[in-house]
Amino acid sequence: MDVSEAVDSRLSVREFLKNPVDDALIKELLEKSARSASGGNLQPWKIYVINNETMCSFLKFQEEWSEPETPAYAIYPENLKEPYKTSRFEVGVQMYSILDIGREDKEGRFKQMLRNFEFFGAPAAFFCFVDRQMGTPQWSDLGMFLQTFMLLAREAGLDTCPQEAWAMKQESVTAFVEAPDEEMLFCGMAIGYRDPEAPINDLRTDRRAIDTWTKFIKK
Ligand SMILES: Cc1cc2nc3c(=O)[nH]c(=O)nc-3n(C[C@H](O)[C@H](O)[C@H](O)COP(=O)(O)O)c2cc1C
Repeated sequence: MDVSEAVDSRLSVREFLKNPVDDALIKELLEKSARSASGGNLQPWKIYVINNETMCSFLKFQEEWSEPETPAYAIYPENLKEPYKTSRFEVGVQMYSILDIGREDKEGRFKQMLRNFEFFGAPAAFFCFVDRQMGTPQWSDLGMFLQTFMLLAREAGLDTCPQEAWAMKQESVTAFVEAPDEEMLFCGMAIGYRDPEAPINDLRTDRRAIDTWTKFIKK
């Protein structure tokens, strides 16, 4: 697989097979991902992997957690403007139409959202944390690291889903992985093999045309 194929075949998988993933493979992919660029070579990512029996204990821990949680950060800006608002809206429309969940079916939508908190059935995952001292430039470094991981996962025949939804469960996640106070949760990453039969995995999201976000300056 070349890089273009890895980029093109990556998608956010939201239904995984139960097939296990070796810790050793995840470790190898993480080590390779650390070749990502980061400003000043800070390498600000902090990764906590949960796999196999730890995934089971984590899901049980989540189920039993009863304290209210405060989101780690606001996932989207308030009053999201165009064209971002429409893109966000459209991905929701596409997703719920594939799943045959109607616009009025709030419960159906909520149930699907809750699948985030089972990693969509993935057998493995990691959480990406960052030191609270870091600012927006270092958060962009996390993005590069995560994208590199997702592409390397494709090369290894694996699929992924990055998940900011976990920011809503920061207290329970932090307690389980025992991250120190100085670290804050950015996102989860579901890891496994896509279920080829699941309609949700046919979702090929749109992209806005290049001329809406690129200008070749000629002077
Ligand atoms: C940092 C980040 C966090 C995301 N969080 C979630 C999430 O919590 N739940 C989810 O279902 N998808 C999540 N996504 C997936 C996006 O919805 C998805 O990337 C986007 O719709 C484009 O689709 P594609 O990844 O299939 O190309 C996230 C993506 C990124 C990059």
